[in-house]
Amino acid sequence: MSETIFPVPAEVAERAHVDNAKYLEMYKQSVENPDGFWGEHGKRIDWIKPFSKVKNTSYDYHNVSIKWFEDGTLNVSANCVDRHLATRGDQPAIIWEGDDPSESKVITYKELHREVNIFANVLKAKGVKKGDRVTIYLPMIPEAAYAMLACARIGAVHSIVFGGFSPDSLAQRIEGCTSKCVITADEGLRGGRKVPLKANVDKAADKAPVDAVIVVKRTGGDIKMTEGRDVWYHEEAAKVSDQCAPEEMSAEDPLFILYTSGSTGQPKGVLHTSGGYLVYASMTHQYVFDYHDGDIYWCTADVGWVTGHSYIVYGPLANGATTLMFEGVPTYPDASRFWQVIDKHNVNIFYTAPTAIRALMGAGNELVEKTSRKSLRLLGSVGEPINPEAWTWYYNVVGEKRCPIVDTWWQTETGGILITPLPGATDLKPGSATRPFFGVQPAIVDAEGNFLEGATEGNLVITDSWPGQMRTVYGDHDRFVQTYFATYKGLYFTGDGCRRDEDGYYWITGRVDDVINVSGHRMGTAEVESALVSHPKVSEAAVVGYPHDIKGQGIYAYVTLMEGEEPTDALKKELVNHVRSEIGPIASPDLIQFSPGLPKTRSGKIMRRILRKIAEDSFDNLGDTSTLADPAVVDDLIDNRQNRH
Ligand code: PRX
Repeated sequence: MSETIFPVPAEVAERAHVDNAKYLEMYKQSVENPDGFWGEHGKRIDWIKPFSKVKNTSYDYHNVSIKWFEDGTLNVSANCVDRHLATRGDQPAIIWEGDDPSESKVITYKELHREVNIFANVLKAKGVKKGDRVTIYLPMIPEAAYAMLACARIGAVHSIVFGGFSPDSLAQRIEGCTSKCVITADEGLRGGRKVPLKANVDKAADKAPVDAVIVVKRTGGDIKMTEGRDVWYHEEAAKVSDQCAPEEMSAEDPLFILYTSGSTGQPKGVLHTSGGYLVYASMTHQYVFDYHDGDIYWCTADVGWVTGHSYIVYGPLANGATTLMFEGVPTYPDASRFWQVIDKHNVNIFYTAPTAIRALMGAGNELVEKTSRKSLRLLGSVGEPINPEAWTWYYNVVGEKRCPIVDTWWQTETGGILITPLPGATDLKPGSATRPFFGVQPAIVDAEGNFLEGATEGNLVITDSWPGQMRTVYGDHDRFVQTYFATYKGLYFTGDGCRRDEDGYYWITGRVDDVINVSGHRMGTAEVESALVSHPKVSEAAVVGYPHDIKGQGIYAYVTLMEGEEPTDALKKELVNHVRSEIGPIASPDLIQFSPGLPKTRSGKIMRRILRKIAEDSFDNLGDTSTLADPAVVDDLIDNRQNRH
């Protein structure tokens, strides 16, 4: 861990919304008087009926309840679109860059308004009403943003499913929130390859029937349309008006559901509501990225993840920003694509994930250095811990030592960034997410929940609510309470390990539960295990993460076969393909070890600690194995390990 300090450059502090003194003052106010602080900053968005109550939250295990601005009413799409028309109707709202470098377009706020109104009327014409859930399974095309905002406009609740998920995963997420309408495209386009989105929806709908499938034409590929259920978006759009009055929504009405993996069971539907979420997403976007009018801002995430929700669509558009939306991948047509797009659109603020940085670092400096990147002013990182080597390369080579890096720690559950530098206020240490955002009160506890003071290491909790926090697990409030508030009663448990140094800086060390972070994508080991055991030749499986140079963590699967099955390489491939088709390519095991036995306690519990050590190839210190039912299995596991340094 590097302790090199990068002080705030004077010109950055001068331009920034806050310098260090202001940060300290605002932070103090935000935690000492949250009602006063958020009552003031809650006014940054437009309310139809202003709120009179600000914070009404309880972390009491027996009564977890989170409400912000509860008696206010608003419409999120009116905040992201309509309210900018008078002042910036002709300003680009979205710059869209296609997978193919020859394709791009600019959508102004006026155009965005028209598109969102039309999309909203198409949804209404298909029978979608306030409170209904709508599943969105789209590639990174402007229609994804239109569809989200159209849902928000009519008060429907969107649930976006990342286009890389399989038909089964999609079906599960359609069923989970009983959505009756799916918005998709004929095909997606990523890195020159087609993604069969509509065909996947057809398969999903066999398992989880829906009333309507709205299909956006992207590639013109050959697809099947089911009479009475499937419609082309462009045909429906031609039939409706381009005016749709925004629905008046209560601050605590749901805005979206987003499924995310946990340490147990199937993915949870994280529910975010309207008022607090938008206040928090827009405020963090402005302060963390030090966004000023006229800046061109690019977040490379996909709208299928929370980063795309908060920092491609809702935060930036609520701020009247210009947000760039990229359909492709960092390595197509070659590994200098990101830097070329930055030059093409004069991007000032660039926000990406460590996995992409590490991959591009491996492609060599020439691919970066042949581009100008003079427009860049600020860099951001999100999704997983950034190792100091990648940080330093990002800083020196991409940002040419002039762009501060904001390493932003947050989660699907938190709605927005919680721990992060502010560019004009915070001296940087490579690898540290540094200090809490306004209103965020992190603490570090030991396994028993005792607060650890000063420089220390332990489990990261948050002691009180902030406006962007998730409100519940859709349809299962008890699961919400059990997952986040039961481990340490009265505290929100993040699932992350964390170190705090002598300057009070936070260093996230990674998940301490059975969640792994593969290329910044969150995956539950239980989900991968359940996909593996659904294969007829598999009797048992245990999945753990292991350090991976590019992906951060790789997926290591220990598989016990059914009696009489041959452990061949062909079967390994078959199992990888099986997981891909059950969950999606992001869940593909990197390494599979056939293991006749797994290390279990006498009560039958798998000792994952041992499996993790072997997967990491660091088995010298396996700890106490005497409680194992059959200690001999460990030797076999070590002898046949797949990850040898
Ligand atoms: O382990 C942390 C890691 O990603 C987890 C949250 O994943 P997800 O809900 O998919 O959201 C990702 C994008 C916000 C966290 O529990 N994580 C996220 N950002 C960082 C991080 N770990 C270290 N540093 C970060 N900046």
